[in-house]
Amino acid sequence: MCGIVGVVGHKNARDILMQGLEKLEYRGYDSAGIFVTSAQQGVQETGQLIKSVGRIADLREKIGIDVAGTAGIGHTRWATHGKPAAHNAHPHTSSDGRFVLVHNGVIENYLALKQDYLSADHFDGETDTEVAVHLIAALAEQEGLDTLEAFKKALTLIEGSYAFALMDRTRPDVIYVAKNKSPLLIGLGDGYHMVCSDAMAMIRETSEFMEIHDHELVILTKDTVEIHDLAGNIVSRESYTAELDLSDIGKGTYPFYMLKEIDEQPAVMRKLSQVYADENGQVTVDQGIIEALVNADRIYIIAAGTSYHAGYASKYLLEELTEKPVELGIASEWGYNMPRLSDKPFFIFLSQSGETADSRQVLVKVNALGLPSLTVTNVPGSTLSREASFTMLLHAGPEIAVASTKAYTAQIATLAFLAKAVGTAIQNDKAQAFDIVHELSIVAQTIETTLSEKAWIENKITGLLATTRNAFYIGRGQDYYVSMEASLKLKEISYIQCEGFAAGELKHGTIALIEDQTPVIALISNNPKVAAHTRGNVSEVVARGASVVTIVERAAAIDGDDIIVNTVHPYLSSIAMVVPTQLIAYYASLHRGLDVDKPRNLAKSVTVE
Ligand code: G6P
Repeated sequence: MCGIVGVVGHKNARDILMQGLEKLEYRGYDSAGIFVTSAQQGVQETGQLIKSVGRIADLREKIGIDVAGTAGIGHTRWATHGKPAAHNAHPHTSSDGRFVLVHNGVIENYLALKQDYLSADHFDGETDTEVAVHLIAALAEQEGLDTLEAFKKALTLIEGSYAFALMDRTRPDVIYVAKNKSPLLIGLGDGYHMVCSDAMAMIRETSEFMEIHDHELVILTKDTVEIHDLAGNIVSRESYTAELDLSDIGKGTYPFYMLKEIDEQPAVMRKLSQVYADENGQVTVDQGIIEALVNADRIYIIAAGTSYHAGYASKYLLEELTEKPVELGIASEWGYNMPRLSDKPFFIFLSQSGETADSRQVLVKVNALGLPSLTVTNVPGSTLSREASFTMLLHAGPEIAVASTKAYTAQIATLAFLAKAVGTAIQNDKAQAFDIVHELSIVAQTIETTLSEKAWIENKITGLLATTRNAFYIGRGQDYYVSMEASLKLKEISYIQCEGFAAGELKHGTIALIEDQTPVIALISNNPKVAAHTRGNVSEVVARGASVVTIVERAAAIDGDDIIVNTVHPYLSSIAMVVPTQLIAYYASLHRGLDVDKPRNLAKSVTVE
């Protein structure tokens, strides 16, 4: 949800900014811009500001070799206020051009600020950010404040979420940084410093980072990092080393990250067994987490998008092994409509990025209530991880395609380890009998078999989904939950309107939408209690002209089924069953000539509510 990068003191600021923006493009890609200047104290520099609508590649085309300097800030945008257009792209400048600002977040009171402080100003665009930079300039000019004081005062007036990087053309050797709710991190280099929304975009330059907390302001020069709180106190903070692997964020020979990430899933399953079990197969989940869960009377899983679906896919397993009811909450709903809670709730925040603002606002309320919580995330040190009582990491490696795949399967597997650990602690028979390491190794092999049949899957669906405007996934029980995720994946990257439906519910209304050749993909895992009923529902749509593709676990397969998945333990069937649907979405998008990794209107990390 918008990416910010800044650097001061590096001889090649332009390239650092552009490389950083390329790595941040997953956060938004409707427009972008950079400001580059020379970081010499006492030298007033005009600097160069280049903006472009579209992708980072479009911006790159506009940047000539004459654009050079040793400091600068850059931004890739996901529009919230004002349509994607060059005049709404960041960086934004004050009327006199002195201040240059990039921003991620939403300034809720920007219209009031505009009216109260800036009624005489002319604005080029419609963004809340432009109001912020004008406000800083107005405070500096009218109240005679220096940049730091004007920025600080503006922060006390601004309501909402923000990550800001500000430059003053009269002090081009300084970047002023502040954050509230939106992610932002300092990178420490040798003779230069950086600021960025995500460590991943800085790992070419450094592995040494420093956190910024909400309501802090940082003054960054090439040699110094000074953290202030809003009261003006200097805050001291240790840096930390994060060894991220550069090869993890490359695409290698793959045409798209999504395909690479789908292919990585067997390795992720094996990795999780190494992390969450010892050499004897004993599960090694943090004792504090186990105790907190044992003491709880209900588990609440809060998440958004694909992570929300992973929560559903894990519900049965968690309930079976922990003997506790599991309730799911859509993060954006629960922030404002928290239902009545049980006496001893335990909250699990599922989030690939660990930054989703909707989930965070629920966590803030959970913390205010003094309730225990666990964040299950792929990103160590992310906001949700820092603010929850406990963290379990997904160990999936960076997920870069906007459509989430390996994080979904890793979430289910990680929660399976948690369920096994808690179930074992309470001596639940099923938990004790569940050999998770063995079962997960079978899942990994099953995924490998499915991946070896890509061409078959591609062939099965290419005609079916080439031009259709709509489609359905149906299933019962676990398969229904996978249907929800499968349809989201297809929608996100192929733009086919798709619904994931409880197979039995279809006939209660929605079957009216089935007409000649409507694609219906039926998921049938090996659950004899429901498989026959789902087949009945398949017959109902076939009778109305639907074109059906079945995805079936081998033990439940019959002649004529289309895509067969090797049978796995019923607790883990969602992991195995989702993989063909990821490939279906991938090939549908590919054959429609779309950008698989960067679908329109979306962003990978949604840091606004
Ligand atoms: C965005 C992404 C989705 C993702 C959701 C939740 O909407 O486009 O792919 O599932 O956020 O993200 P999280 O990082 O919290 O799992």
